[in-house]
Amino acid sequence: MAKNKSFAAVVLAAGLGTRMRSDLPKVLHYLGDMSLIERAIRKIAQLGPAKIIVITGHKAELVEAELAKRLGPALFEKIVFVRQKRLLGSGRAVQEAMPAIRAYAHAMVLCGDAPLFRAETVKKMAGFYFKHAPDCLVMTADLPEPGSYGRIKRNHAGDVAAIVEAADADTWEKNIKEVNSGTYFFSVKALEKAVRGLKKKGSKGEFYLTDAVENIITAGGQAAAFKLSDATEMTGINSRADLAAAYAMLNRRKAADLMAAGVTVVDPSNTYVEESTVIGRDTVIYPGVFIKGVTSIGRNCKIGPCGVIEDCRIDDGATVKYSCALENSRVRAGAVVGPFARLRPLSDIGPDAQVGNFAEVKKSNIGRGSKIHHHSYIGDTEMGEKVNIGAGTITCNYDGVQKNRTVIGAGAFIGSNTNLVAPVIIGAGAYTAAGSTITEDVPGGALAIARARQVVKQLKKRTK
Ligand code: UD1
Ligand code: CA
Repeated sequence: MAKNKSFAAVVLAAGLGTRMRSDLPKVLHYLGDMSLIERAIRKIAQLGPAKIIVITGHKAELVEAELAKRLGPALFEKIVFVRQKRLLGSGRAVQEAMPAIRAYAHAMVLCGDAPLFRAETVKKMAGFYFKHAPDCLVMTADLPEPGSYGRIKRNHAGDVAAIVEAADADTWEKNIKEVNSGTYFFSVKALEKAVRGLKKKGSKGEFYLTDAVENIITAGGQAAAFKLSDATEMTGINSRADLAAAYAMLNRRKAADLMAAGVTVVDPSNTYVEESTVIGRDTVIYPGVFIKGVTSIGRNCKIGPCGVIEDCRIDDGATVKYSCALENSRVRAGAVVGPFARLRPLSDIGPDAQVGNFAEVKKSNIGRGSKIHHHSYIGDTEMGEKVNIGAGTITCNYDGVQKNRTVIGAGAFIGSNTNLVAPVIIGAGAYTAAGSTITEDVPGGALAIARARQVVKQLKKRTK
């Protein structure tokens, strides 16, 4: 049992990513709403490493800038960047980062292009490593088609003996189904000695980190394997095809988790739910829906078909019908949004309220049971309960300089095609006549008519 369980996580992210055929470094490609590298770092951060050493190289400044922009300050503080000068393989990367790694007794090494592992799985792996304290623990999995992954060679006793890269493997080795995930725990003392002894390999003359395993054993150390039960967790992304496959995998996994928790996902392969989303039981998600960011959806909701929901909170029993776009908003219990509604940030749709049919709401509170149907725009508005908004009502919230607020009291009836020129207050139970342009406050219970009177003129009959 290791006494000191503090470790540094070392993320390899310097490679060229040639197989992506991209101007962008591979680790900056997005898988869902996060780059590969961000995804890997956020996962690993859940294990509480003392430091996260990120090795950058190819277009290092782009990778560093993306992480600076995307990771919060608390997480970013844990990161140290080491720039790999000579891009000569994963082993070379670790060699060059040794001055930073050396400060820790243990190191977890992982690839920035393989972010599909579950945090719980790596936690178990860390537990195994610190309990049995081998000099090296490699995460492995059995793959029916091991492809380009490094093969795990075991000795007669069944212990890990070496890792052979696919490109250098003989026929017998190529047939080995157990492969290297690229995630390892090392005793830093053993690692340092092992990477010092690496020799150039392959057609490109690279230093393979995988050879460190054999070096550790030759030096009298012990290597062990931590085998995954779900091989998809080790998926590495080297090409655009891998990227698409990884996305499908993540999506399938999330759908399976949701269904196991009592959510109906009508067509899992056509529904996209980010990992961070929480959904309550007996909610039904119809096909074509994207749910992103920090979104929580309650129980007994109906969502879709089609639509995008990002960073929203949707309470129990709410419905989001066909083709809606919701962003950073709240939909309260029993409310019905859609079909074809747009909720822009900071909209709060009250209980049992209804918003639909090409209505747009922005930064507004909509009271319980209020209705906004038919081509309306409600922005910067405080709306009471049971208000009825007639078709084509527009809050004119922007005067060209600043945004102004509209207040609509409970039970007000806004006639069709009303322009509410903010700032303006419509009292409780007030009416506005259809086609009015309201520029002054309307007291509670009153009727405001603000439109030109109709004129009917008899035209002279033309003789021709
Ligand atoms: C590597 C492993 C392979 C394993 C697979 C798992 C080696 C030699 N092989 O192969 O056994 O099955 O990952 O996905 O390690 N990198 C650097 N500096 C470099 C080169 C690469 O930081 O000079 C980084 C890359 O950015 C990448 C990671 O190391 O994140 C792995 O490199 P990659 O070229 O993708 O290795 P694989 O061929 O996938
Ligand atoms: Ca790879």
